[in-house]
Amino acid sequence: MTNKTSNQMWGGRFAAGPDAIMEAINASIGFDQRMAAQDIAGSRAHAAMLAATGIVSDSDASAMREGLLTVLSEIDSGTFEFSTALEDIHMNVEARLKEIIGEPAGRLHTGRSRNDQVATDFKLWVRDQIDAAVTGLEALIRALLDQAEAGADWVMPGFTHLQTAQPVTWGHHMMAYVEMFGRDMSRFRDARARMNESPLGAAALAGTSFPIDREMTAKALGFDRPAANSLDAVSDRDFALEFLSCASICAMHLSRFAEELVIWSSAQFRFVTLSDRFSTGSSIMPQKKNPDAAELIRAKIGRIFGANVALMTVMKGLPLAYSKDMQEDKEQVFDAADNLMLALAAMEGMVKDMSANVENLEAAAGSGFSTATDLADWLVRALNMPFRDAHHVTGTLVALAESRGCDLPDLTLADMQGVHGAITDEVFGVLGVHNSVASRLSYGGTAPANVRAQVARWKGLLK
Ligand code: ARG
Repeated sequence: MTNKTSNQMWGGRFAAGPDAIMEAINASIGFDQRMAAQDIAGSRAHAAMLAATGIVSDSDASAMREGLLTVLSEIDSGTFEFSTALEDIHMNVEARLKEIIGEPAGRLHTGRSRNDQVATDFKLWVRDQIDAAVTGLEALIRALLDQAEAGADWVMPGFTHLQTAQPVTWGHHMMAYVEMFGRDMSRFRDARARMNESPLGAAALAGTSFPIDREMTAKALGFDRPAANSLDAVSDRDFALEFLSCASICAMHLSRFAEELVIWSSAQFRFVTLSDRFSTGSSIMPQKKNPDAAELIRAKIGRIFGANVALMTVMKGLPLAYSKDMQEDKEQVFDAADNLMLALAAMEGMVKDMSANVENLEAAAGSGFSTATDLADWLVRALNMPFRDAHHVTGTLVALAESRGCDLPDLTLADMQGVHGAITDEVFGVLGVHNSVASRLSYGGTAPANVRAQVARWKGLLK
Protein backbone atom coordinates (compact mmCIF):
# COMPACT_ATOMS: atom_id res chain seq x y z
CA MET A 1 0.00 0.00 0.00
CA THR A 2 1.13 3.49 -0.72
CA ASN A 3 2.41 5.57 2.15
CA LYS A 4 -0.09 8.36 2.70
CA THR A 5 2.41 11.20 2.45
CA SER A 6 4.51 9.70 -0.33
CA ASN A 7 3.67 9.62 -4.02
CA GLN A 8 0.75 7.37 -4.94
CA MET A 9 2.57 6.26 -8.15
CA TRP A 10 5.73 4.96 -6.45
CA GLY A 11 5.14 5.37 -2.72
CA GLY A 12 5.87 1.70 -1.98
CA ARG A 13 9.57 2.32 -1.73
CA PHE A 14 9.30 5.69 0.07
CA ALA A 15 8.82 6.41 3.74
CA ALA A 16 8.29 10.15 3.35
CA GLY A 17 7.01 12.63 0.80
CA PRO A 18 9.22 15.19 -0.93
CA ASP A 19 10.45 18.44 0.57
CA ALA A 20 8.50 21.48 -0.65
CA ILE A 21 11.57 22.68 -2.54
CA MET A 22 11.93 19.27 -4.15
CA GLU A 23 8.32 19.44 -5.27
CA ALA A 24 8.88 22.92 -6.69
CA ILE A 25 11.99 22.03 -8.69
CA ASN A 26 10.58 18.70 -9.81
CA ALA A 27 7.11 19.60 -10.99
CA SER A 28 6.46 20.27 -14.66
CA ILE A 29 2.65 20.39 -14.49
CA GLY A 30 2.74 24.20 -14.57
CA PHE A 31 3.77 24.00 -18.22
CA ASP A 32 3.39 20.46 -19.53
CA GLN A 33 -0.39 20.66 -19.09
CA ARG A 34 -0.21 22.15 -22.58
CA MET A 35 0.35 18.58 -23.78
CA ALA A 36 -2.85 17.23 -22.22
CA ALA A 37 -4.56 16.47 -25.51
CA GLN A 38 -1.47 14.67 -26.81
CA ASP A 39 -1.06 12.75 -23.57
CA ILE A 40 -4.62 11.54 -23.68
CA ALA A 41 -4.42 10.62 -27.37
CA GLY A 42 -1.29 8.58 -26.61
CA SER A 43 -2.92 6.83 -23.67
CA ARG A 44 -6.06 6.04 -25.64
CA ALA A 45 -3.98 4.49 -28.42
CA HIS A 46 -1.99 2.52 -25.84
CA ALA A 47 -5.17 1.26 -24.13
CA ALA A 48 -6.67 0.07 -27.42
CA MET A 49 -3.44 -1.75 -28.23
CA LEU A 50 -3.32 -3.41 -24.78
CA ALA A 51 -6.76 -4.88 -25.46
CA ALA A 52 -6.01 -5.87 -29.07
CA THR A 53 -2.95 -7.82 -27.91
CA GLY A 54 -4.83 -9.45 -25.02
CA ILE A 55 -2.69 -7.75 -22.37
CA VAL A 56 -5.77 -6.20 -20.74
CA SER A 57 -9.44 -7.11 -21.15
CA ASP A 58 -11.66 -5.33 -23.66
CA SER A 59 -13.86 -4.02 -20.87
CA ASP A 60 -10.89 -2.53 -18.99
CA ALA A 61 -9.60 -0.90 -22.16
CA SER A 62 -13.02 0.56 -22.95
CA ALA A 63 -13.28 1.94 -19.43
CA MET A 64 -9.85 3.53 -19.82
CA ARG A 65 -10.62 4.99 -23.24
CA GLU A 66 -13.96 6.40 -22.10
CA GLY A 67 -12.55 7.68 -18.83
CA LEU A 68 -9.70 9.42 -20.66
CA LEU A 69 -12.24 11.30 -22.76
CA THR A 70 -13.93 12.46 -19.57
CA VAL A 71 -10.57 13.67 -18.24
CA LEU A 72 -9.96 15.53 -21.50
CA SER A 73 -13.33 17.24 -21.33
CA GLU A 74 -12.63 18.30 -17.75
CA ILE A 75 -9.31 19.78 -18.83
CA ASP A 76 -10.87 21.50 -21.85
CA SER A 77 -13.64 23.01 -19.78
CA GLY A 78 -11.22 24.20 -17.09
CA THR A 79 -12.73 22.18 -14.24
CA PHE A 80 -9.72 19.86 -13.90
CA GLU A 81 -7.66 20.45 -10.78
CA PHE A 82 -3.97 20.14 -11.58
CA SER A 83 -1.83 18.98 -8.68
CA THR A 84 1.85 19.88 -8.24
CA ALA A 85 2.26 16.88 -5.99
CA LEU A 86 1.45 14.74 -9.02
CA GLU A 87 4.38 16.34 -10.83
CA ASP A 88 3.40 16.27 -14.45
CA ILE A 89 0.59 15.89 -16.95
CA HIS A 90 1.09 12.13 -17.23
CA MET A 91 0.51 11.45 -13.55
CA ASN A 92 -2.21 14.07 -13.20
CA VAL A 93 -4.21 12.42 -15.96
CA GLU A 94 -3.65 8.90 -14.67
CA ALA A 95 -4.57 9.84 -11.09
CA ARG A 96 -7.80 11.45 -12.23
CA LEU A 97 -8.59 8.45 -14.42
CA LYS A 98 -8.27 6.29 -11.32
CA GLU A 99 -10.79 8.47 -9.49
CA ILE A 100 -13.21 8.14 -12.39
CA ILE A 101 -12.92 4.46 -13.38
CA GLY A 102 -11.20 2.87 -10.41
CA GLU A 103 -9.09 -0.29 -10.65
CA PRO A 104 -8.69 -0.60 -14.46
CA ALA A 105 -6.82 2.73 -14.48
CA GLY A 106 -3.95 0.96 -12.73
CA ARG A 107 -3.50 -1.28 -15.80
CA LEU A 108 -2.99 1.57 -18.27
CA HIS A 109 0.72 1.92 -17.55
CA THR A 110 1.42 -1.73 -18.47
CA GLY A 111 4.25 -2.01 -21.00
CA ARG A 112 5.08 1.68 -21.06
CA SER A 113 6.88 4.28 -18.98
CA ARG A 114 6.68 8.02 -18.56
CA ASN A 115 9.88 8.12 -20.61
CA ASP A 116 8.32 6.88 -23.83
CA GLN A 117 5.08 8.61 -22.88
CA VAL A 118 6.66 12.07 -22.62
CA ALA A 119 8.69 11.58 -25.79
CA THR A 120 5.50 10.63 -27.62
CA ASP A 121 3.44 13.51 -26.23
CA PHE A 122 6.12 16.05 -26.99
CA LYS A 123 6.63 14.77 -30.52
CA LEU A 124 2.92 15.00 -31.19
CA TRP A 125 2.93 18.56 -29.84
CA VAL A 126 5.93 19.61 -31.93
CA ARG A 127 4.41 17.96 -34.99
CA ASP A 128 1.29 20.11 -34.60
CA GLN A 129 3.47 23.21 -34.37
CA ILE A 130 5.29 22.27 -37.55
CA ASP A 131 1.94 22.03 -39.29
CA ALA A 132 0.94 25.41 -37.86
CA ALA A 133 4.22 26.97 -39.03
CA VAL A 134 3.69 25.63 -42.55
CA THR A 135 0.15 27.05 -42.58
CA GLY A 136 1.39 30.42 -41.30
CA LEU A 137 4.17 30.51 -43.88
CA GLU A 138 1.77 29.69 -46.67
CA ALA A 139 -0.51 32.57 -45.67
CA LEU A 140 2.46 34.94 -45.56
CA ILE A 141 3.66 33.77 -48.97
CA ARG A 142 0.20 34.41 -50.43
CA ALA A 143 0.25 37.96 -49.08
CA LEU A 144 3.69 38.50 -50.64
CA LEU A 145 2.49 37.11 -53.97
CA ASP A 146 -0.34 39.66 -54.00
CA GLN A 147 2.15 42.45 -53.37
CA ALA A 148 4.48 41.11 -56.08
CA GLU A 149 1.69 40.83 -58.60
CA ALA A 150 0.44 44.36 -57.94
CA GLY A 151 3.94 45.80 -58.15
CA ALA A 152 5.57 43.60 -60.79
CA ASP A 153 6.74 46.72 -62.65
CA TRP A 154 7.10 49.30 -59.89
CA VAL A 155 10.75 50.29 -59.77
CA MET A 156 12.72 50.82 -56.59
CA PRO A 157 16.39 50.99 -55.73
CA GLY A 158 18.12 47.69 -55.15
CA PHE A 159 20.87 47.95 -52.55
CA THR A 160 24.16 46.37 -51.70
CA HIS A 161 25.85 47.59 -48.51
CA LEU A 162 22.62 49.62 -48.14
CA GLN A 163 24.02 51.84 -50.92
CA THR A 164 22.01 52.27 -54.09
CA ALA A 165 23.15 49.57 -56.50
CA GLN A 166 20.78 48.96 -59.43
CA PRO A 167 17.07 49.47 -59.95
CA VAL A 168 14.92 46.45 -59.18
CA THR A 169 11.20 45.89 -59.22
CA TRP A 170 9.06 45.88 -56.09
CA GLY A 171 7.69 42.55 -57.23
CA HIS A 172 11.17 41.09 -57.45
CA HIS A 173 11.98 42.21 -53.92
CA MET A 174 8.76 40.62 -52.60
CA MET A 175 9.52 37.43 -54.51
CA ALA A 176 12.96 37.22 -52.89
CA TYR A 177 11.16 36.72 -49.57
CA VAL A 178 8.77 34.25 -51.16
CA GLU A 179 11.80 32.11 -52.03
CA MET A 180 13.16 32.39 -48.47
CA PHE A 181 9.87 31.61 -46.77
CA GLY A 182 9.30 28.83 -49.28
CA ARG A 183 12.55 27.19 -48.21
CA ASP A 184 11.52 27.63 -44.57
CA MET A 185 8.33 25.79 -45.37
CA SER A 186 10.23 22.93 -46.98
CA ARG A 187 12.66 22.78 -44.04
CA PHE A 188 9.73 22.35 -41.63
CA ARG A 189 8.29 19.63 -43.86
CA ASP A 190 11.61 17.81 -44.00
CA ALA A 191 11.86 17.95 -40.22
CA ARG A 192 8.35 16.54 -39.91
CA ALA A 193 9.10 13.63 -42.21
CA ARG A 194 12.25 12.74 -40.25
CA MET A 195 10.68 12.97 -36.80
CA ASN A 196 7.55 11.01 -37.58
CA GLU A 197 8.46 7.78 -35.78
CA SER A 198 6.66 6.68 -32.64
CA PRO A 199 8.57 6.38 -29.34
CA LEU A 200 5.60 4.72 -27.67
CA GLY A 201 6.38 1.22 -26.45
CA ALA A 202 10.10 1.91 -25.98
CA ALA A 203 9.04 1.87 -22.31
CA ALA A 204 11.60 3.08 -19.77
CA LEU A 205 14.60 2.44 -22.04
CA ALA A 206 14.86 -1.23 -22.95
CA GLY A 207 11.49 -2.14 -24.43
CA THR A 208 9.11 -4.51 -22.62
CA SER A 209 8.43 -8.21 -22.17
CA PHE A 210 4.72 -7.69 -22.85
CA PRO A 211 3.65 -8.64 -26.39
CA ILE A 212 2.81 -5.04 -27.35
CA ASP A 213 2.06 -3.96 -30.91
CA ARG A 214 4.04 -0.81 -31.62
CA GLU A 215 2.92 -0.69 -35.24
CA MET A 216 -0.65 -0.36 -34.03
CA THR A 217 -0.04 2.57 -31.68
CA ALA A 218 2.26 4.27 -34.22
CA LYS A 219 -0.48 4.10 -36.83
CA ALA A 220 -3.20 5.28 -34.45
CA LEU A 221 -1.15 8.39 -33.64
CA GLY A 222 -0.34 9.23 -37.25
CA PHE A 223 3.30 8.15 -37.11
CA ASP A 224 4.88 6.49 -40.13
CA ARG A 225 6.43 3.69 -38.06
CA PRO A 226 7.68 2.89 -34.56
CA ALA A 227 11.19 4.13 -33.68
CA ALA A 228 13.61 1.23 -34.14
CA ASN A 229 15.72 1.61 -31.01
CA SER A 230 14.19 1.95 -27.56
CA LEU A 231 17.20 3.75 -26.05
CA ASP A 232 17.22 6.29 -28.85
CA ALA A 233 13.46 6.71 -28.70
CA VAL A 234 13.41 7.87 -25.07
CA SER A 235 16.74 9.73 -25.15
CA ASP A 236 16.78 12.08 -28.04
CA ARG A 237 15.16 15.44 -28.49
CA ASP A 238 16.64 16.11 -31.90
CA PHE A 239 13.12 16.47 -33.28
CA ALA A 240 12.56 19.43 -30.97
CA LEU A 241 15.97 20.84 -31.84
CA GLU A 242 15.25 20.48 -35.53
CA PHE A 243 12.01 22.36 -35.02
CA LEU A 244 13.94 25.09 -33.19
CA SER A 245 16.58 25.26 -35.92
CA CYS A 246 13.94 25.54 -38.64
CA ALA A 247 12.17 28.13 -36.50
CA SER A 248 15.43 30.04 -36.00
CA ILE A 249 16.17 30.26 -39.71
CA CYS A 250 12.60 31.28 -40.45
CA ALA A 251 12.76 33.84 -37.64
CA MET A 252 15.99 35.23 -39.08
CA HIS A 253 14.20 35.77 -42.41
CA LEU A 254 11.27 37.42 -40.65
CA SER A 255 13.67 39.68 -38.80
CA ARG A 256 15.47 40.82 -41.94
CA PHE A 257 12.20 41.70 -43.59
CA ALA A 258 11.02 43.44 -40.41
CA GLU A 259 14.21 45.49 -40.45
CA GLU A 260 13.54 46.54 -44.04
CA LEU A 261 10.01 47.57 -43.14
CA VAL A 262 11.33 49.69 -40.28
CA ILE A 263 13.75 51.43 -42.66
CA TRP A 264 11.24 51.74 -45.51
CA SER A 265 8.55 53.27 -43.33
CA SER A 266 10.86 55.96 -41.94
CA ALA A 267 10.37 59.60 -42.94
CA GLN A 268 13.76 59.50 -44.66
CA PHE A 269 12.78 56.62 -46.98
CA ARG A 270 9.00 56.73 -47.25
CA PHE A 271 8.97 53.64 -49.45
CA VAL A 272 5.96 52.14 -47.68
CA THR A 273 3.08 53.20 -45.51
CA LEU A 274 2.20 50.66 -42.86
CA SER A 275 -1.43 50.43 -41.87
CA ASP A 276 -2.79 51.89 -38.66
CA ARG A 277 -3.76 48.36 -37.69
CA PHE A 278 -0.11 47.36 -37.38
CA SER A 279 1.38 50.61 -36.04
CA THR A 280 1.26 52.59 -32.83
CA GLY A 281 1.41 56.27 -31.99
CA SER A 282 3.50 58.22 -29.53
CA SER A 283 2.10 59.60 -26.29
CA ILE A 284 4.10 62.82 -26.69
CA MET A 285 4.88 63.30 -30.40
CA PRO A 286 1.59 63.64 -32.28
CA GLN A 287 3.13 63.17 -35.74
CA LYS A 288 4.54 59.73 -34.97
CA LYS A 289 3.44 56.44 -36.41
CA ASN A 290 5.74 53.71 -35.22
CA PRO A 291 6.33 50.33 -36.88
CA ASP A 292 6.05 48.45 -33.57
CA ALA A 293 4.90 45.17 -35.08
CA ALA A 294 8.00 45.05 -37.27
CA GLU A 295 10.23 45.96 -34.36
CA LEU A 296 8.70 43.32 -32.13
CA ILE A 297 9.09 40.67 -34.81
CA ARG A 298 12.74 41.70 -35.07
CA ALA A 299 13.13 41.44 -31.30
CA LYS A 300 11.18 38.24 -30.60
CA ILE A 301 13.58 36.38 -32.81
CA GLY A 302 16.09 36.53 -29.94
CA ARG A 303 13.88 34.27 -27.85
CA ILE A 304 13.72 31.70 -30.64
CA PHE A 305 17.49 31.67 -31.12
CA GLY A 306 17.82 31.51 -27.33
CA ALA A 307 15.56 28.47 -27.08
CA ASN A 308 17.66 26.67 -29.67
CA VAL A 309 20.88 27.33 -27.78
CA ALA A 310 19.26 26.51 -24.42
CA LEU A 311 18.01 23.10 -25.51
CA MET A 312 21.26 22.25 -27.29
CA THR A 313 23.01 23.02 -24.02
CA VAL A 314 20.58 20.91 -21.96
CA MET A 315 21.14 17.92 -24.24
CA LYS A 316 24.81 18.06 -25.00
CA GLY A 317 26.21 16.30 -21.93
CA LEU A 318 23.51 13.72 -21.22
CA PRO A 319 24.39 10.04 -21.10
CA LEU A 320 21.80 7.62 -22.50
CA ALA A 321 18.98 7.11 -21.76
CA TYR A 322 16.48 9.46 -20.06
CA SER A 323 17.69 12.08 -17.58
CA LYS A 324 15.44 14.52 -15.76
CA ASP A 325 17.34 17.37 -17.44
CA MET A 326 15.17 16.63 -20.44
CA GLN A 327 12.11 17.98 -18.67
CA GLU A 328 13.65 21.40 -19.42
CA ASP A 329 12.97 20.89 -23.14
CA LYS A 330 9.36 21.98 -23.10
CA GLU A 331 9.21 25.58 -21.95
CA GLN A 332 11.85 26.59 -24.49
CA VAL A 333 9.97 24.97 -27.33
CA PHE A 334 6.58 26.27 -26.17
CA ASP A 335 7.86 29.83 -25.99
CA ALA A 336 9.67 29.64 -29.32
CA ALA A 337 6.61 28.16 -31.03
CA ASP A 338 4.24 30.75 -29.56
CA ASN A 339 6.44 33.60 -30.67
CA LEU A 340 7.11 32.18 -34.12
CA MET A 341 3.37 31.82 -34.80
CA LEU A 342 2.76 35.33 -33.54
CA ALA A 343 5.56 36.77 -35.68
CA LEU A 344 4.31 34.94 -38.78
CA ALA A 345 0.77 36.20 -38.26
CA ALA A 346 1.92 39.77 -37.59
CA MET A 347 4.11 39.77 -40.68
CA GLU A 348 1.27 38.44 -42.80
CA GLY A 349 -0.99 41.18 -41.48
CA MET A 350 1.56 43.91 -42.15
CA VAL A 351 2.29 42.70 -45.67
CA LYS A 352 -1.41 42.48 -46.52
CA ASP A 353 -2.06 45.99 -45.27
CA MET A 354 1.04 47.89 -46.34
CA SER A 355 0.99 50.17 -49.35
CA ALA A 356 4.02 50.95 -51.46
CA ASN A 357 4.61 54.63 -52.23
CA VAL A 358 5.17 54.04 -55.92
CA GLU A 359 6.32 57.57 -56.78
CA ASN A 360 8.86 57.70 -53.97
CA LEU A 361 10.16 54.29 -54.93
CA GLU A 362 10.60 55.37 -58.53
CA ALA A 363 12.31 58.67 -57.63
CA ALA A 364 14.68 56.84 -55.32
CA ALA A 365 15.30 54.19 -57.96
CA GLY A 366 16.74 56.75 -60.34
CA SER A 367 18.98 58.51 -57.87
CA GLY A 368 22.49 57.50 -56.84
CA PHE A 369 23.59 56.72 -60.44
CA SER A 370 21.66 53.47 -60.24
CA THR A 371 21.80 52.88 -64.01
CA ALA A 372 25.59 53.16 -64.24
CA THR A 373 25.84 49.41 -64.89
CA ASP A 374 23.33 49.77 -67.72
CA LEU A 375 25.55 52.45 -69.24
CA ALA A 376 28.64 50.25 -68.94
CA ASP A 377 26.75 47.29 -70.47
CA TRP A 378 25.67 49.55 -73.37
CA LEU A 379 29.30 50.52 -74.04
CA VAL A 380 30.15 46.83 -74.20
CA ARG A 381 27.22 46.01 -76.49
CA ALA A 382 27.20 49.04 -78.79
CA LEU A 383 30.90 49.86 -78.93
CA ASN A 384 32.30 46.37 -78.36
CA MET A 385 34.36 47.75 -75.48
CA PRO A 386 35.90 45.27 -72.99
CA PHE A 387 33.81 45.43 -69.78
CA ARG A 388 36.73 46.64 -67.65
CA ASP A 389 37.25 49.64 -70.00
CA ALA A 390 33.51 50.31 -70.05
CA HIS A 391 33.54 50.30 -66.24
CA HIS A 392 36.28 52.93 -66.28
CA VAL A 393 34.54 55.19 -68.84
CA THR A 394 31.31 54.94 -66.86
CA GLY A 395 33.11 55.77 -63.64
CA THR A 396 34.46 58.94 -65.27
CA LEU A 397 30.94 59.90 -66.39
CA VAL A 398 29.58 59.29 -62.87
CA ALA A 399 32.29 61.52 -61.43
CA LEU A 400 31.38 64.20 -63.99
CA ALA A 401 27.69 64.03 -63.10
CA GLU A 402 28.54 64.11 -59.42
CA SER A 403 30.65 67.25 -59.89
CA ARG A 404 27.71 68.87 -61.70
CA GLY A 405 25.25 67.75 -59.01
CA CYS A 406 23.08 65.94 -61.57
CA ASP A 407 22.14 62.36 -62.49
CA LEU A 408 23.50 60.40 -65.47
CA PRO A 409 20.52 61.05 -67.79
CA ASP A 410 20.99 64.81 -67.21
CA LEU A 411 24.42 64.83 -68.86
CA THR A 412 24.39 66.07 -72.51
CA LEU A 413 25.63 64.02 -75.44
CA ALA A 414 28.52 66.49 -75.73
CA ASP A 415 29.44 65.83 -72.06
CA MET A 416 29.46 62.10 -72.79
CA GLN A 417 31.44 62.42 -75.99
CA GLY A 418 33.97 64.53 -74.11
CA VAL A 419 34.73 61.37 -72.11
CA HIS A 420 34.46 58.92 -75.03
CA GLY A 421 34.02 60.16 -78.58
CA ALA A 422 32.13 57.12 -79.92
CA ILE A 423 29.12 57.43 -77.59
CA THR A 424 25.88 58.15 -79.50
CA ASP A 425 22.52 59.41 -78.24
CA GLU A 426 21.25 55.83 -78.31
CA VAL A 427 22.81 55.62 -74.83
CA PHE A 428 19.97 57.67 -73.32
CA GLY A 429 17.63 54.74 -74.00
CA VAL A 430 19.32 52.64 -71.31
CA LEU A 431 19.61 55.30 -68.62
CA GLY A 432 15.96 55.20 -67.57
CA VAL A 433 15.03 52.94 -64.65
CA HIS A 434 12.13 51.27 -66.44
CA ASN A 435 14.31 50.29 -69.38
CA SER A 436 16.91 49.09 -66.92
CA VAL A 437 14.64 46.65 -65.10
CA ALA A 438 12.86 45.55 -68.29
CA SER A 439 16.21 44.57 -69.80
CA ARG A 440 17.13 42.26 -66.93
CA LEU A 441 15.47 39.22 -68.42
CA SER A 442 18.17 36.69 -67.52
CA TYR A 443 16.63 33.79 -65.56
CA GLY A 444 16.07 34.96 -61.99
CA GLY A 445 16.53 38.62 -63.00
CA THR A 446 14.33 41.52 -61.93
CA ALA A 447 12.39 42.17 -65.16
CA PRO A 448 8.60 42.53 -64.66
CA ALA A 449 8.03 39.66 -67.09
CA ASN A 450 10.17 37.40 -64.88
CA VAL A 451 8.33 38.52 -61.74
CA ARG A 452 4.97 37.67 -63.31
CA ALA A 453 6.23 34.25 -64.38
CA GLN A 454 7.50 33.53 -60.84
CA VAL A 455 4.23 34.65 -59.26
CA ALA A 456 2.39 32.27 -61.56
CA ARG A 457 4.80 29.43 -60.75
CA TRP A 458 4.34 29.94 -56.98
CA LYS A 459 0.58 30.11 -57.27
CA GLY A 460 0.71 26.78 -59.05
CA LEU A 461 2.94 25.31 -56.34
CA LEU A 462 0.64 26.44 -53.53
CA LYS A 463 -2.55 25.13 -55.06
N1 ARG B 1 7.81 15.17 -16.52
C1 ARG B 1 8.83 14.36 -17.08
C2 ARG B 1 9.48 15.07 -18.28
O1 ARG B 1 8.95 16.03 -18.70
C3 ARG B 1 8.23 13.08 -17.55
C4 ARG B 1 9.19 11.93 -17.61
C5 ARG B 1 9.61 11.53 -16.25
N2 ARG B 1 10.38 10.34 -16.29
C6 ARG B 1 11.12 9.97 -15.24
N3 ARG B 1 11.81 8.89 -15.38
N4 ARG B 1 11.14 10.65 -14.13
O2 ARG B 1 10.52 14.69 -18.74
